[in-house]
Amino acid sequence: MGKVKDISLAAEGQKELEWARLNMPVLAKIRKDFEKSRPLSGLRIGVALHLEKKTGILLETLAAAGAKVSAASCNPLTTDDRVAAVLAKNGIIDVFAWAGQTNEEYYWCLNSVLDSKPQIVIDDGCDLINLLHTKRKDLLPSIIGGCEETTTGIVRLWAMHREGALKFPVFAVNNAHSKFLLDNQFGTAQSTVDAIARCTNKLIAGKTAVIAGYGWCGRGIASRLKGLGANVIVVEIDGTLGPHESGLQRGLQALYDGFRVMDMEHAVKEGDIFITATGNKDILVQSHFSKMKDGAILCNAGHFNNEINELQLRSASKSVRELKDNLMQYELKDGKKLYLLSEGRLVNLSRPSGQGHPIEIMDGSFAVQALCVCELAKQKKKLPAGVHNVPKELDDSVARMLLNSQGVYLQPPTPEQVKYAEEWKEGT
Ligand code: NAI
Repeated sequence: MGKVKDISLAAEGQKELEWARLNMPVLAKIRKDFEKSRPLSGLRIGVALHLEKKTGILLETLAAAGAKVSAASCNPLTTDDRVAAVLAKNGIIDVFAWAGQTNEEYYWCLNSVLDSKPQIVIDDGCDLINLLHTKRKDLLPSIIGGCEETTTGIVRLWAMHREGALKFPVFAVNNAHSKFLLDNQFGTAQSTVDAIARCTNKLIAGKTAVIAGYGWCGRGIASRLKGLGANVIVVEIDGTLGPHESGLQRGLQALYDGFRVMDMEHAVKEGDIFITATGNKDILVQSHFSKMKDGAILCNAGHFNNEINELQLRSASKSVRELKDNLMQYELKDGKKLYLLSEGRLVNLSRPSGQGHPIEIMDGSFAVQALCVCELAKQKKKLPAGVHNVPKELDDSVARMLLNSQGVYLQPPTPEQVKYAEEWKEGT
């Protein structure tokens, strides 16, 4: 059951899945264990993740553990139709996903996943969990728990938790060290730069790149662009909006990392490429567009497509046209042309130019997801409703498996070192 764009793409999707499978040794190991112990036997799992090849391997792993899995994409542009086709054809997973959905189609797919009456949900950005708490409340009693993949989803969950609105436990997978320190920083960095280059085919060396947000994603992107020879400007804010330190300290970190740091009012005049990665809204608005250089390229790596105000960009333009895949040209009233990539949605994941994070990165992130789902199944309904940190042992076990899979083995501390560290901790 399910709905995908074109089942005849399955053969292509098979090759994509095979390549991902070959490069995800940690999930392969987990799958082997799951096949023996079947820890998710009989459980129904509903998934909203970017539906591409690495996600396909996670879904296979959950199915190998005995779960009945239904999946949609967590974004209208990010499904790899080839992968959706092969998953649908294999018949093990119900897939409701295709690239280029309208808002109605997107929610139809999420609702279709919920129609399977999942007991565990995996979300990326909190749209599925939000839908459960608003229009599909009838399903709440059978939910054991959930997992959330990204920073923006965690921020939304915390808001629900504070209001007492969150009705089941959710693991903050994003906040596992084996996730955000690697995926947000190194994964977003490589895939964002890759998508910009793939979409525009333009030289990065010598360009001035403006990165809004020096969080885990922003700092990765800044460092990779610097490595390619861009002159990088970082824009931060005087305020605390995320779960981490304030924009002031983030701005200082950027400065000490060797970047120019300023506010957007000043940065707009200099940038050739603008990348937003804040998780906030209205980072680039009308007053900025009019000051930008002719030919400036704008894109977003934050979760939602509200970081660049596309409506204002459109209303400031005398013409708008799709120049090529993922690239829209906006001709402003003064004749200046600006280019928006991937409709201002996640540039690194929007197909066809966005290929998503490197496979090895998702091996780690999805290993955390798979083990957290298992933990929820083990706990049944014992965990209280709310946002939960990923258990440290689980987090460390994924890092250890990732290192070992690359032939790196670290020595544990000696008993004396453990004792020394503990005495020291007690004294502080
Ligand atoms: P973070 O919370 O570590 O960093 C966000 C930074 O943006 C903070 O330093 C904050 O001070 C800054 N910021 C907030 N408002 C701002 C404004 N108006 N101007 C300038 N800076 C501002 O978050 P993280 O983990 O870096 O994630 C950022 C976004 O990227 C989130 O929406 C997250 O869900 C998304 N994300 C995207 C991925 C992708 O594949 N593209 C992967 C992981 C996360």
